[in-house]
Amino acid sequence: MQYPQTVAEIRDTFLKYFQEHQHTLVPSSSLLPAGDPSLLFTTAGMVQFKPLFAGNTELPYTRATTSQKCLRTTDLENVGKTERHCTFFEMLGNFSFGDYFKKGSIEYALDFSIRHLGFAKEDIWISVYTDDDEAEKFWLDLGIPADRIVRLGKEDNFWGPAGETGACGPCSELYLDRGVEKGFPGCGTKASCKPGCDCDRFIEYWNIVFNQFNQDKTGKHHPLKQTGIDTGAGLERLAMLIQGVDSVYDTDELQKLIANMETLTGHKYAKDTLATFRVMADHTRAASFAIADGIIPDRTGRGYVIRRLIRRATLYARKLEVREPILYKIAGSVVQLYGKVYPQLIEKKDELFRVIQAEEELFLNTLEQGLEVLEEMLASYEKSGKKHFKGSDSFKLYGTFGFPKEMTKEILEEKGFTFDEAGFAEELEKDRQLSRDTWTGKQNSYSSLLEGLSKTTFTGYNKLEGSAKILKLISEKNTECAQLMEDDKGILILDKTPFYGESGGQLGDTGLIELENTVFCVTDTQKDDDFLLHNGYMTQRS
Ligand code: SER
Repeated sequence: MQYPQTVAEIRDTFLKYFQEHQHTLVPSSSLLPAGDPSLLFTTAGMVQFKPLFAGNTELPYTRATTSQKCLRTTDLENVGKTERHCTFFEMLGNFSFGDYFKKGSIEYALDFSIRHLGFAKEDIWISVYTDDDEAEKFWLDLGIPADRIVRLGKEDNFWGPAGETGACGPCSELYLDRGVEKGFPGCGTKASCKPGCDCDRFIEYWNIVFNQFNQDKTGKHHPLKQTGIDTGAGLERLAMLIQGVDSVYDTDELQKLIANMETLTGHKYAKDTLATFRVMADHTRAASFAIADGIIPDRTGRGYVIRRLIRRATLYARKLEVREPILYKIAGSVVQLYGKVYPQLIEKKDELFRVIQAEEELFLNTLEQGLEVLEEMLASYEKSGKKHFKGSDSFKLYGTFGFPKEMTKEILEEKGFTFDEAGFAEELEKDRQLSRDTWTGKQNSYSSLLEGLSKTTFTGYNKLEGSAKILKLISEKNTECAQLMEDDKGILILDKTPFYGESGGQLGDTGLIELENTVFCVTDTQKDDDFLLHNGYMTQRS
């Protein structure tokens, strides 16, 4: 039998296998979790099925299979520093809602691993939850010997819920033994080296969650109306094992993306550029998928995470002497590689290229200058022998040059400095208060200029850009003016706009408005009854 080799073949083989076993093929849901404010992004295959697991809704099917796009960004600063960290990944899954449970899911996992992935049974190790004798028995019945089954506690073998509440339960994981030589030197031969060990000999590739409980807001567990199965197998992790490489970045699809980046940058993916290529590849892929799902770079919440991804990738691109927008071109390869499986990428491609490019431009405008200022600051700290970087300094980098605080933190850590978290938070709050006060003051002084204007139409629900007519230009001195010169600050009012104005706890949008020969850089958008007011400054077209 010919086993699947490429990422695409593994995905197809998995989905086909479960469809042949009466599972309904369900398309991946959006990275923006629908109706679940407790979750920033879709982090697992089960997220779209949370209502089905809860048992409060009529079931359209009792078995499902998916290849789900996922985004996990809690430790995005680790991307580039390890072999396997990705923020974006695809997760294969088979799910049961009150249908098969432990026995069936264990049988499927082993059968698929051996007969369809070609893994040798002797290389498969299993973990079960501390007291799960039942799961262990099913593995023993299938011929996995007791000495290849380990028991792991809550931290490793109890999963969920995704978000604050929902289905969760003990799990059982499948590991592949890659051989003693893959472990840390001297570790692989020790009896203590088994699943759960930190070395690279055993790689977990499949997680079966036996959903039994519903966690409520207080963290209490209640039995679910019906038990369920939620499995997850990271697609690139599987490809890494099948293709015999040590890093997910060396699997076929990411390698294609990286080859394209080599052409675009003129640099080789080699030992000293590995981290840079990996950060740029992962972050661009993640941002492309997120933007195609309508998550736009912003100053808060989900949008802030996407902004961080783009800015961190832009900083890394500098290491390859790239000083102009390039990520939007890499996004072109992302669309090419994944568009067939995830059609939103094709539908939204123009918009996502434009959003990424605009975000790159915005940051590149100030990046060099910000890095110079940072260098000067560090030199003066060095002189005085201080290693604690003040909150007011990191806030200056954030407020003036757009450095996400996590990025500053990462640069500081590399250079042996500590970051003043509380000081930064204090500065941020002061700034927010100041802008609230200034805004109220400003509003009173020019409101007469708005009289007689027709109201602004907001177009940002479906589109993030468009063309519009300028209705009024107000200078920093709150007088109407015909034009602004470079660096002049002011307010621009349009007949229609996709910029969201600050309201309901959500900050106003930032972005660019292209004029005939210049660009108006919007640093904040405010809402004043019927008008959306773009606050910003005039700058040169780059
Ligand atoms: N929800 C589990 C995980 O993410 C299995 O799909 O690992």
